[in-house]
Amino acid sequence: MDDESIVRKGIRIIGIWTIKAFDTIRLKSSEIPMLIHELVEGLKHSRRVFLKIEYSKHNTTKNALAKCVKVSILLCYRDESIFFSSSAMHSLLLYNIGHLATPQSQEDTPQHRNKTYRLSGAAMGNIHTDQNVALLIENGTITRIGDSATLEREVRADKRFDAKGMTALPGFVDSHTHTIFGGNRANEFAMRSAGRTYQDIAAAGGGILSTMNATRSATHEELLAIGRKRLDAMLRHGTTTVEIKSGYGLDTASDLKILEVIQELAQTHPMTIVPTFLGAHAFPPEFREKRDQYIELVCQEMLPMVKERGLAVFCDIFCEQNYFSVEQSEHILNTARELGFALKLHADQLSASGASELGVRLGAVSVDHLECTTASGIRAIASSATIATALPGASLFLNHPYPPVRDIINAGAAVALATDFNPGSSMTFSMPMMMTLAATQMRMTPEEALTASTLNGAAALCLAHERGSLEVGKRADILLSEVSHFYEVSYHFGMNHIVHVIKDGKVIV
Ligand code: NIG
Ligand code: FE
Repeated sequence: MDDESIVRKGIRIIGIWTIKAFDTIRLKSSEIPMLIHELVEGLKHSRRVFLKIEYSKHNTTKNALAKCVKVSILLCYRDESIFFSSSAMHSLLLYNIGHLATPQSQEDTPQHRNKTYRLSGAAMGNIHTDQNVALLIENGTITRIGDSATLEREVRADKRFDAKGMTALPGFVDSHTHTIFGGNRANEFAMRSAGRTYQDIAAAGGGILSTMNATRSATHEELLAIGRKRLDAMLRHGTTTVEIKSGYGLDTASDLKILEVIQELAQTHPMTIVPTFLGAHAFPPEFREKRDQYIELVCQEMLPMVKERGLAVFCDIFCEQNYFSVEQSEHILNTARELGFALKLHADQLSASGASELGVRLGAVSVDHLECTTASGIRAIASSATIATALPGASLFLNHPYPPVRDIINAGAAVALATDFNPGSSMTFSMPMMMTLAATQMRMTPEEALTASTLNGAAALCLAHERGSLEVGKRADILLSEVSHFYEVSYHFGMNHIVHVIKDGKVIV
């Protein structure tokens, strides 16, 4: 295919500076139109990534590839800084690590390899620790872990970084946030301190709808600038992977605007970002009297557009009294699933609605919140692959009960911890603070809290095969802290103990 026909397919080639990221796959020729369609649709809205596709007949006749065609995909980055951060070849020796603590993925056997690893039940408490360690990182991936003196002697690396005896941990994975919103709700914080409840304030027109107004009136550029600042602060607090939801637009253009901001951040910020569509976060005022029509808008217009533009991996919903009922949630989530979205739910936050059971039934990757989950919800989660994501910041901030995490782990389920960063119920970036609340309010051990904040958070984003632990083969997302043992990160609370952050093998904080 020549450049002209690519242009006809909808790609504008603005200029190809250098072609460095290169991948080759072999496909049956009948699969090519679909591949091209998906790539074109996924990338043509991107502001910075441009695509060129070449194909040629593959000559092999002796094997099963006889009728296949070789497709070369060349990703051309306009912005050199993105290009160099994603594909420059280099190695780094991170040495003189005093103490290392990490969960470890389950057996690395061929049948488990490339599966989503997560630790459930009692296994969540197995933290591997080591002393006087060095890590060799090549092209952003950990390739060797061993005794520091030995690696310092044996390894030649382009760069060396002295950890000065500090403690190394995996970067935190914050698997549930609402990072992109306009304004803030400090006024509601003050109202709650005077006795008003979250539900009262929402019923009086505040809450999610007040943030919706501020977000609708913010421009793409304004939200981008706010988002960038927030991501910088998260990185400084040790978060290296974050999920971000839409859900403060509540009309097609505004929720797409949020997702486009998230996409631009994902392409330009070092943080690993996983986007989630949360159009069913609340009913916007213009649909208050015609809720079914809003649900149809979500199903018929928003979800297909988000999918077509490749703007979200997950679809989430606020399944709750006065928000989306179990039946409405099931309808929306089924539509999303058919379109190919992975699923998440805000489940059983303010009341026990059966949302956890629904999430399990639909094969959701995670059910989140769970403050009011019953024994039946716990049984359902424990009998499934669905991850229970606890958000203790929301319980602290709203003075609500904490989710029954001890019972959930004892039942054998996998638990993740996340901040739920949002302006109404949890205005924090701090994963260490979640670990403190886990230990003091939810009877998790510090070991379980570390697994929940790293490996299981990554599993809740389907990223546990490449992130969430310090192991050979994983991406090098590493925190260095001056504490002498990982317990102190949550024990000495309200402090930021992170000194350095290594993201995809680069020291960026
Ligand atoms: O996860 N519960 C629904 N959504 C958010 C709160 C959103 C808001 O109050 O702005 C949560 O707690
Ligand atoms: Fe939330």
